[in-house]
Amino acid sequence: MSESRLVVALDLTDKDRALEIARSIGRQVFAIKINWPLVLAGSGSIIGEIARVSRVVCDFKIADIPNTNSIIAKFARDQGAWGIISHSFTGLESLRSVVEASGDTKVFSVVAMSHPGSDLINDNYRKLMDISERAGVYGYIAPGNKLSDLSEIRKRTKKTIMSPGIGSQGGRASDAIKAGADLVIVGRSIYESADPVTAAEAINEEIAKAVEQN
Ligand code: XMP
Repeated sequence: MSESRLVVALDLTDKDRALEIARSIGRQVFAIKINWPLVLAGSGSIIGEIARVSRVVCDFKIADIPNTNSIIAKFARDQGAWGIISHSFTGLESLRSVVEASGDTKVFSVVAMSHPGSDLINDNYRKLMDISERAGVYGYIAPGNKLSDLSEIRKRTKKTIMSPGIGSQGGRASDAIKAGADLVIVGRSIYESADPVTAAEAINEEIAKAVEQN
């Protein structure tokens, strides 16, 4: 079977439950995404703990001055994160500081978002992609539930696109793949499910079919 394209968001504040899910699905997903809820519930060491069972993407949506950005990015890198998500609207210097501090950890920049009311960012994806290219990002975050935005972004880059907005936010993994996502992010539909392993398997299968049809 080809490698999974599923990134599971574990936005839990129960660290033990998060680790339990990570250990049970770690081998069947591309990566596990950690956001502030889990880090604030415990400590940054959760990154290293989950990195033992899966790649980890730190979704810190970094959006500060260059010096602060560098400290956050270096922390994630030193804990063993495979990837890190940064905002790009803060400008070239801020985003470049993330890329420089991340070393081998891959930087994905947000250029459009999945939630209602994200027009301010989404209307500016061209400018944000320009900043991101100049900063040297590895890939992009683009919404899997706003397919016209996603496909416009796909047309403008060959880089890896990771897409949230699937399941609870209305998008479908298969549609996001067909519109140009390489990886899809799914949170609540998996970690709130009574059986996260089976829920993840079902999405893996849906993605595999969409890849075949593409
Ligand atoms: P759900 O439960 O909605 O979780 O499947 C989605 C996860 O992805 C994050 N998220 C985003 N991250 N740009 C991002 O960088 C977005 O547009 C976006 N939408 C959702 C969210 O925080 C959660 O971890």
